[in-house]
Amino acid sequence: MNNDHKIIVAIDGLSGSGKSTMARRLASQVGYRYIDSGAMFRAVTLFGLDSGCFTSPDDDPSALIESVGTLDINFEPQPDGTQHTMLNGRDVEAEIRQMRVNSMVSPVATIPEVRRRLAQIQQQLGKERGIVMDGRDIGTTVFPDAELKIYVDTPAEVRARRRYDEMIGAGADVSFEQILDNLVSRDKIDMSRAESPLRKAEDAVVLDNSDMTLEQQDAWILRQFQKAIERS
Ligand code: DC
Repeated sequence: MNNDHKIIVAIDGLSGSGKSTMARRLASQVGYRYIDSGAMFRAVTLFGLDSGCFTSPDDDPSALIESVGTLDINFEPQPDGTQHTMLNGRDVEAEIRQMRVNSMVSPVATIPEVRRRLAQIQQQLGKERGIVMDGRDIGTTVFPDAELKIYVDTPAEVRARRRYDEMIGAGADVSFEQILDNLVSRDKIDMSRAESPLRKAEDAVVLDNSDMTLEQQDAWILRQFQKAIERS
């Protein structure tokens, strides 16, 4: 593969669509940097919860908005090849995946000032290209000029089933309905917010991975990547 010519790969889609797995695996296969933009929204949410300045969707967001410009959010490579999310120099990778963050992150992601600040950091990370970034508005707002845009569109029942199997496998006490309800309500917030809602970029390639194995998905995304390199 020609490593001199680097592109930006933007992968957008709903919660639980498998886009992070696809993005991470592609990045490692082609030697690009993977950026999980959702983790950045999660880090801001964790800050709001821990500092007490934004602990409920009904709170006044002005204190969080004031702080967001001062937050240092980045990613630190780990010996096993993964990256951990860092907030003001602290490793918050595990904390940002907790349920208390899950239930506040969509409201935080509706705050325009938070979105704009994170978009600046994301654009900075992609300045040299050579990144695979996943999220909700990467192909539409953050990198409208990305050479490859993927929109993962997988039915809610399939996404909920995967999440359910994963959580039951990890010993959690949850029902399929709880998971489906949580996914559907997050979908609704992500798709209906005023600022940068999730939508397919006009030039995005759509993927429904319901019936694909991981290996088939890897092969599919690699083909898209190679075509994009040839095109650009
Ligand atoms: O991908 P995730 O589930 O970790 O994302 C967490 C939340 O952040 C989700 O509710 C949508 C929001 N988000 C966003 O609005 N824009 C992005 N680029 C990434 C995530």
